[in-house]
Amino acid sequence: MKYDDRPIGIFDSGLGGLTSVKAVAEALPNEKIVYFGDTARVPYGDRSKETIIEYVKDDIEFLLSHNVKAIVIACNTADSLARPEMEQIFRIPIVGVVGPAAKKAVQLTKNGKIGVIGTNATIQSNAYSKVIHEYDASAEVFSVACPLLVPLVEEGRISKDDKVTRRVLKEYLLQFTEKGIDTLVLGCTHYPLLSGIIAEILPGVKLINSGEAAVESLRRKLNENDLSASPENRGCVKYYVSDNAASFARHGGIFMGHELTESVTEVNI
Ligand code: DGL
Repeated sequence: MKYDDRPIGIFDSGLGGLTSVKAVAEALPNEKIVYFGDTARVPYGDRSKETIIEYVKDDIEFLLSHNVKAIVIACNTADSLARPEMEQIFRIPIVGVVGPAAKKAVQLTKNGKIGVIGTNATIQSNAYSKVIHEYDASAEVFSVACPLLVPLVEEGRISKDDKVTRRVLKEYLLQFTEKGIDTLVLGCTHYPLLSGIIAEILPGVKLINSGEAAVESLRRKLNENDLSASPENRGCVKYYVSDNAASFARHGGIFMGHELTESVTEVNI
């Protein structure tokens, strides 16, 4: 068996991709990770397709400059809008979040009624609805864009006592109650930080963390391409952002469930 101890590159527009970093670090403890958060340009979700493609290309080029062996697009917006273009430009294995989260939703739903929340760009792209219907043509998909959620999470407004966040979530989510969904895809990697409040607004609905869902396809892709790290390789995470490293370090700890062990480096990409 061949091994490859180079790092995996993971990126998002900001903090959200840390939900993937946490899941990858737990599931694949021998893997080194280089994370890039494009904090100077967050949020991506209200930009045009052309702009998102341009940003995502920059993000991947930055990670390639760190000699990564595979890329995880830990951003539903980037995955929904720019994936095919990136697969044409770059030869490196690329794993996204939309396919795995859609698959999980189809596996988990009992009544075939699936809700999807995401940024404006993700919802308008219809990416989730398309992939869910590839797995199950009869599934009913109800999609709602929630553009205010990324700024709230980037601001650290994730406490269950935060009245503004709860009110915004209620406005977005209560419409799902009358649709009778039993599964909700958190189709933005920032949203799992709000799962506590979401679960209270939609009791009994299964929540799918799109950041976490990518882990199994990453594991498979590494194995298929002889890219898994050797058992003696020690995993670690290096963090890079394009702006405000101090704020990223402060809020990043909440995502990871512990303080960031490595410092966060600010770079100009
Ligand atoms: N975490 C990104 C996503 O999954 C947020 C996108 C944004 O920056 O608006 O879509």
